[in-house]
Amino acid sequence: MVIHISEHGQNIVYRPIRPSDREALEAMHAALFPIRYEPEFFLNVVNGHDIVSWAAVDRSRPDGNDDEIIGFVTVRVMIATENEIGDILGYGSSRTNQTLVYILTLGVAEQYRNLGIASSLVQEVIKYASSLPECKAVYLHVIDYNESAILFYKKMNFRCLRRLPSFYYINSQHFDAYLYVYYVNGGRSPQSALDFVVAVTTYLRGIFTSWATRLWKREQKIPGWSKCKKATSFFNLNRMIKSTNNRGCQHV
Ligand SMILES: CC(C)(COP(=O)(O)OP(=O)(O)OC[C@H]1O[C@@H](n2cnc3c(N)ncnc32)[C@H](O)[C@@H]1OP(=O)(O)O)[C@@H](O)C(=O)NCCC(=O)NCCS
Repeated sequence: MVIHISEHGQNIVYRPIRPSDREALEAMHAALFPIRYEPEFFLNVVNGHDIVSWAAVDRSRPDGNDDEIIGFVTVRVMIATENEIGDILGYGSSRTNQTLVYILTLGVAEQYRNLGIASSLVQEVIKYASSLPECKAVYLHVIDYNESAILFYKKMNFRCLRRLPSFYYINSQHFDAYLYVYYVNGGRSPQSALDFVVAVTTYLRGIFTSWATRLWKREQKIPGWSKCKKATSFFNLNRMIKSTNNRGCQHV
């Protein structure tokens, strides 16, 4: 159990979710999310079947409900190779038992927002994921219009990896989702290799450009016919540099 005294004096405690939390948990999910969750989901959460969870409660509540959930996070450990997200994250083809922690739901009651409660809950998740040696990342989906959640994950240093078109289907309408990820235990973005190639290309382009400029300056001093011939090859060279630049832009 973790205890945090907030700036506003509340004594916020973080503990696992238990069977007695079921009603409050269902009510919070109904109030906070546009998706309806099956009763089975709540049973699994409160009984810890395949789902790990943390609740935040306010021990300093004057109304006596000092064990009532005011915030929660639920997660599931996924085997990277059994999950299509494993491919996106670059772990799908791995033969090892690498895992990923998926944040299923996260929420904080409105009157307790902006006190750092979700930050503490997600820190618990990151700590948990880091404690699993095979775990490479924590990830989640967020609906594209949920700006406060998007700002929250950015603040927590999650990285937006992809926009997934029509990921959600809610009330007969499609919505895009963003896939956010936080790497742990040396997990790395599949784009790291690409970033490396782009960096090397940029470096080589710099050398190439300065070499071409020096060559051009030298050519200014060479007699007429020779200068003309070389000027044609510089033109080609310049075109090559420009096309390299264009390709570079597409990657950035
Ligand atoms: C998203 C949510 C969980 C954040 O909970 P919270 O306890 O208020 O978050 P924190 O206090 O830990 O916020 C940390 C940071 O997130 C960002 N943030 C959170 N809410 C924000 C908002 N409404 N507007 C702008 N930034 C926000 C800020 O950068 C904040 O840091 P700051 O206080 O230094 O500015 C909460 O708004 C919520 O329950 N929303 C409804 C359910 C939901 O959308 N869940 C996420 C589904 S993926």
